[in-house]
Amino acid sequence: MALIEQFGEMLGRALENVSSSHTPADLDAVNVKYLGRRGELAELMKKLPSLPAEERPDAGMRANDVKRQIQAALENRALSFGGDKPKAKSALDVTWPGAKIPRGHLHPITQFMRKVEDIFVSMGFEVVDGPEVDTEKNNFDLLNIPKDHPSRDIMDTFYLTNGAVLRTHTSPVQLRAMETRKPPVRLVYPGRTFRHEATDASHETTFYQYECLVIDQGITVANLLDALNSFFKTLFGPQVKIRVVSSYFPFVEPGLEVSMSCLICEGKGCSVCKKTGWLEMLGSGMVHPRVLTNMGIDPEKYSGYAFGGGLDRLVMLYYGIDDIRLLYGGDLRFLEQF
Ligand code: FA5
Repeated sequence: MALIEQFGEMLGRALENVSSSHTPADLDAVNVKYLGRRGELAELMKKLPSLPAEERPDAGMRANDVKRQIQAALENRALSFGGDKPKAKSALDVTWPGAKIPRGHLHPITQFMRKVEDIFVSMGFEVVDGPEVDTEKNNFDLLNIPKDHPSRDIMDTFYLTNGAVLRTHTSPVQLRAMETRKPPVRLVYPGRTFRHEATDASHETTFYQYECLVIDQGITVANLLDALNSFFKTLFGPQVKIRVVSSYFPFVEPGLEVSMSCLICEGKGCSVCKKTGWLEMLGSGMVHPRVLTNMGIDPEKYSGYAFGGGLDRLVMLYYGIDDIRLLYGGDLRFLEQF
């Protein structure tokens, strides 16, 4: 039997032993048998180093999980005996506190998303939402992304059998939101996005973006830079500087890539910022006149800016997390730190 299965088999026996225990002494014996220093769990864990390296993390997690389950069962059973309280006359004492159910909390990305929303709300933005499954039209066509653009390739985009796509960015929410709104608008829309790509320390197939759209008369790049400055300074502190260089996104003109001075080395250059002193944060620009037209807005009368970046990247920078995959691994040892 594979080691991971042996953990399961042992858990089954331990839980049976717990339920058939009738006294605290029985429970002590079960505790020693399975969780003691020379207990069955400890013996099985000695075999972990002999597993191939790639199987070790899963087996290790399984061992911890089994331990937690046995401990919880022992505690619950002890409580049902009434612990060290004076013996109740009947087996059922309705005044005795129930077994504590462990409480969860919001995932760090959700917590952070709310922080980002709060900052933008304080700057006068409205929070809006859009679907994670969208049309090719909204995800690409109406955003002025050419038919032959490489991002449409099935190597980059998840297509559903009905032709819909898992949105590859939050930008389609621009189109959705403007179906029911007229300028002036100041919108922020964080959300989950999907790309068919290889994962590494900074890339996942499922990740989060946040994006802002402002449309009004007389909006210029100066308004864009002012909003970005306020956002990053509120989030990371007044010492932060931003840097803007030209870039290309089909749905903005001009397109601008925005970097922030590295927080780790204060701009002097380190391994996190690859010795440049700057961290690339997001894409932005003035909304392309064709996209404004697609929203039913007259580009002669109105102008607007949009910017969008990786929310995970912000979370990682904020907390000093060096691998995005930790955020999606579901490992409680990681999640319980937030
Ligand atoms: C976009 O997605 C544009 N929609 C951003 C934009 C909005 C530009 C509005 C102009 C105006 P890009 O493909 O560069 O741009 O992705 C933006 C950010 O998403 C990246 O900087 C990165 O932080 C994050 N990101 C992209 N791919 C991944 C991935 N696989 N895993 C985690 N984060 C990712």
